[in-house]
Amino acid sequence: MLTLKNVTKTYPGVIALNNVSMEFAGGEVHALLGENGAGKTTLIKIISGAIQPDSGTIAFGDQIYRHMTPNLAIQNGVAVMYQDINLVRPLSVAENIFLGRRFGKIFNRARIYEMARKLFTEYGFDLDPSISVSKLSAANLQLVEICKAISNDARIMIMDEPTAPLATNEVDLLFSIIRRLKEKGVTVIYISHRLDEVFSIADRISILRDGCYVSTIKTAETNRAQLINKMVGRTLSESFPPEPTNWGKLSSRRIILLVTASRRSILNCTAARYWALLG
Ligand SMILES: Nc1ncnc2c1ncn2[C@@H]1O[C@H](COP(=O)(O)OP(=O)(O)OP(=O)(O)O)[C@@H](O)[C@H]1O
Ligand SMILES: [Mg+2]
Repeated sequence: MLTLKNVTKTYPGVIALNNVSMEFAGGEVHALLGENGAGKTTLIKIISGAIQPDSGTIAFGDQIYRHMTPNLAIQNGVAVMYQDINLVRPLSVAENIFLGRRFGKIFNRARIYEMARKLFTEYGFDLDPSISVSKLSAANLQLVEICKAISNDARIMIMDEPTAPLATNEVDLLFSIIRRLKEKGVTVIYISHRLDEVFSIADRISILRDGCYVSTIKTAETNRAQLINKMVGRTLSESFPPEPTNWGKLSSRRIILLVTASRRSILNCTAARYWALLG
């Protein structure tokens, strides 16, 4: 239902996305994985019309666009939950959810509170619609964003590292909401560096590396080692020496020499971060 074809985006000196083609199906949770700088945020900004690609197309169903704008993206059902949630702080929860929408000629606060309450009951949220959003926790700010998307009839909900500011029990709540969205046929595009989360919530996983599309795999048909290989572009045996270097015994001069000696050493430093993830 959402298809990107040959999308390229360059910045001075950087190819952020290099001829990327991918598909997102209706009602799936689709995780986007890749190292820092792989192009994940650039991709979602292109889908939401926040930036324009240099070339390529974005299609919602059979409607194909060369230039997406934020309004067109919203009309096509796209909602984005950014890490720094951008709500209007002095306004209440309900006012933020229904901001910019008209309900008759007169602004009817009681009516929007009632509509918000109905939405919270349906989704099992414990929120007071009249409270100012400036008083909300990160988790509750996310709930408001999600309610905004639901009440706008979003069909594609994009979440960029949503669990970064959340506690464990809040992550559980977010996941139950994601499952509910999925049941309603909403596509969730889920960006995270946390493989555990991806395994517990995603139906399919796509990997980007250095701005290039690598592959899309069903979660049930992959494992951590395979995903990490695809993200860093080498097999683990190539990336990791069997005996870890005992850095503590080396002089700092020797460490500098070792680290700068070859490109491969530097790549291994990057790979070491994923070794930690492997556990
Ligand atoms: N506005 C910009 N100007 C210049 N370069 C940019 C800009 N935005 C992104 N880039 C570059 O494009 C590449 C892809 O960046 P992007 O933010 O999409 O990566 P990412 O996969 O989201 O990384 P992270 O996991 O760190 O969020 C990086 O090399 C980044 O430095
Ligand atoms: Mg990013």
